[in-house]
Amino acid sequence: MKKIIFSLLLTMGAIHTASAVEGNADAGKTKAAMCGACHGATGLNPSPTYPNLAGQKAAYIAKQLADFKSGARTDMMMAPMAANLSEQDMADLAAYFSVQKRVSEQAAASDDSSAPAATASAGSVAIVTSTSAKAIYAGDVKSGHEKSAMCASCHGADGNSLIAMYPKLAGQSANYIAKQLADFKSGNRVDPVMVGMVAALSAQDMNDLAAYFAVQTPTAGQAEGSDIGHKLYFGGDVNKGITACVACHGVKGKGMAQAGFPALAGQNAAYLKKQIASFRDGSRGNDRNSMMRNIAIKLSDNDIDELVKYMSSLK
Ligand code: HEC
Ligand code: HEC
Ligand code: HEC
Repeated sequence: MKKIIFSLLLTMGAIHTASAVEGNADAGKTKAAMCGACHGATGLNPSPTYPNLAGQKAAYIAKQLADFKSGARTDMMMAPMAANLSEQDMADLAAYFSVQKRVSEQAAASDDSSAPAATASAGSVAIVTSTSAKAIYAGDVKSGHEKSAMCASCHGADGNSLIAMYPKLAGQSANYIAKQLADFKSGNRVDPVMVGMVAALSAQDMNDLAAYFAVQTPTAGQAEGSDIGHKLYFGGDVNKGITACVACHGVKGKGMAQAGFPALAGQNAAYLKKQIASFRDGSRGNDRNSMMRNIAIKLSDNDIDELVKYMSSLK
């Protein structure tokens, strides 16, 4: 009997040890949500900056992630992504990407450079109402333009608000704008002004408005920049556990349109400051998986001021 129990324990122990590093592709799929912004949802992104992960050997992927985490392999973008991954997370992610197909979905994979090119040069502002955007966005740019008349007094006719408390919408990710409008309507994001603006909007209206503002050209920011903010934005703060903003908001602050990560470049400083403070005190809580709240809670007032100066100065 003792022997049986002993071997049973051994077996359980063996299973346990194995499961600690054996990946589960389904679990990995959920955890891959953050990776999709750069690597594509199934690990394929035609952009030359990001390696394809689809069909890569699982053991290789897991080792790279461990190396990014330990610092044995250094990369500005991957370091913050790997920093919070457990061994199990790495195994799950590796399992998920390794079973994805290498080529078939290549064409459908996301690429920010396929977004419609800005039409106006900085300074002169052109309102865009006809573009190939229809093929990319769920909304219609022309009808969005018509419906945007009531937004112009605060956000500007072309989405470049001149008033510090009102966010610029020009060039913002369409996915992101549509989500915000839906969130204001559902009460998931609370603002006394915007709630009245969205009350009568249908889902189609939101998509149209989002498409219209997304294809406008943002004006350059006014802030003077900040070296401290620049450092935090790109490097985060390992000691305080602050994930680098660049991971989700992009090298130039343009966000990740496909993932719905908002552009911050050139955004009005007062608005940015209010949003980070709201994520920090929880009064804004419409970020999926508390992505922003978890970061904002670790930022000091000074961190926020410097970050805002930096982001708002980006072109
Ligand atoms: C902000 C963009 C970004 C995000 C988000 C991101 N990565 Fe990466 N990843 C990169 C870049 C850039 C490289 C190439 C690094 C280099 O040049 O060494 C890379 C490299 C890798 C590699 C090494 C591939 C190879 O062939 O050596 C793996 C594995 C990887 N990423 C996995 C992930 C996983 C898993 C996630 C999500 C948890 C993720 N990445 C999120 C940008 C990103
Ligand atoms: C009376 C002024 C006013 C009008 C008119 C107005 N807005 Fe707003 N909007 C605001 C304010 C103020 C905020 C910032 C709310 C906050 O601080 O959270 C905002 C925020 C937003 C945001 C979130 C932006 C971001 O970066 O998260 C979107 C999207 C938006 N408005 C779209 C619209 C659209 C579309 C219309 C027209 C249908 C409109 N707004 C009309 C004042 C206005
Ligand atoms: C893991 C991804 C991720 C990282 C890292 C990240 N953010 Fe965000 N951020 C988001 C998402 C997602 C949203 C939009 C949430 C929503 O409303 O849907 C957001 C929203 C914001 C907004 C509000 C934008 C607007 O138009 O209202 C600001 C400001 C912001 N982030 C600043 C930062 C700063 C500063 C850092 C670095 C200290 C950072 N973020 C790091 C994902 C991230």
